[in-house]
Amino acid sequence: MGWNPWNAFRTEVTEAKILSVADALLRDGLAESGYQFINVDDGWWLKRDVSGRIVVRTTMFPSAALPDGHTSLRPFVDHLHGLGFRAGLYTDIGRNACSQAWDRRSPNLPVGSMAEREIGSLDHQAEDMRLIFGEWAFDSLKVDACGLADFGPDQPYVKDATFRSLGPYISRRHPAESDSKRVEQLYAGLKKQIDMVRPDGNYILSVCTWGEADAQAWAQKYGNTWRTSADIQPTWESMLKNFDSAASPPEFSVPGHSSDPDMLEIGNGEFDANHLVEARAHFSLWAMLSAPLILGSDVTKWSPSLVGIAGNRDVIAVDQDSGGHQGIVIAKMDRGQVMLKNLSDGSMVVAFVNRKDQPLTLSLQTALLHLDGPLAARDLWTQEETAVGGVITAKLNAHETRLLRVRSTIGR
Ligand code: GLA
Repeated sequence: MGWNPWNAFRTEVTEAKILSVADALLRDGLAESGYQFINVDDGWWLKRDVSGRIVVRTTMFPSAALPDGHTSLRPFVDHLHGLGFRAGLYTDIGRNACSQAWDRRSPNLPVGSMAEREIGSLDHQAEDMRLIFGEWAFDSLKVDACGLADFGPDQPYVKDATFRSLGPYISRRHPAESDSKRVEQLYAGLKKQIDMVRPDGNYILSVCTWGEADAQAWAQKYGNTWRTSADIQPTWESMLKNFDSAASPPEFSVPGHSSDPDMLEIGNGEFDANHLVEARAHFSLWAMLSAPLILGSDVTKWSPSLVGIAGNRDVIAVDQDSGGHQGIVIAKMDRGQVMLKNLSDGSMVVAFVNRKDQPLTLSLQTALLHLDGPLAARDLWTQEETAVGGVITAKLNAHETRLLRVRSTIGR
């Protein structure tokens, strides 16, 4: 659980902005609710110097400018640790980063010669991991893969010699042409280097191949989380598409390792303060998947109702349950879905999901829950507790998801 600037700011973020979000998370009680990681995404690097060390963009991170002329993210990380957060950084498994292919007008692209602009970890895994997890003391790393996908010989910016050609080892258009073995080897190598710096294993590694290169078959061996889809957008349909990428078929998930349908869009676009039904549904679905809960909005501007959604401890407990079981879609009809998730205390969470723009009624035979009756259900959004019989019926508004935690009341 944490926060990442990408969905709100892309590469246009600053240390001051990140720290103002950290303050808001503390002030609004979201840090206490579990949002522990403050992550940095693409854009933080200026270049790789001749010695191979990455230079930090000090216009973005003023605290990184050291008196001796070198740069270091350690003061920033120390500041976050001092506030009680853990700190996350971003790199690429290839030579170049996603922004260099997809945000070519960004003012915050790496600068210098072709070699200086190769800020990805390829051929630098050992020194970069020593820098990031050792010298700078980060706790988490998101490792993107555009360097393996978007710098093949056919790209115009490779043809004109802006970048060196690599692979591509990941083919977004023709997945069967991806060299999944090569991609896996690179992530395996990176994890080995992190483990040498952090033998206690107390870190998070996020594999970001967007579900490409057969990631569902290998990523859980190296990553705590692995992306299952292309980038989420702040729209209802995009959120559902990303949800489906992890839910159907359900991906492997155990405590500490879970699939990642991407960061939350709560507070943005169709999940902003005018769309609280959608924001609740989005949060509920991520919780049913045991997905990482990484906020991606400018939390400093949040209304109390948005804080209440992302801070709902009952829903967070569903996501973070120590059993780590991913919820399963057990029924689908007319753009409605029923999902079940086993919790470690023996209770069961039922999600009634209405994907439609119109109301919908869904129901479930409680025998399917395999709980010994009598049963009680707690609505995790209204906190209302009711006794339930043989069938639970949910009348849902357009886009509503109802979350019920059902438990046996025998002996209570
Ligand atoms: C990719 C990732 C995003 C983000 C951007 C940064 O698109 O999937 O989450 O990190 O790169 O450029």
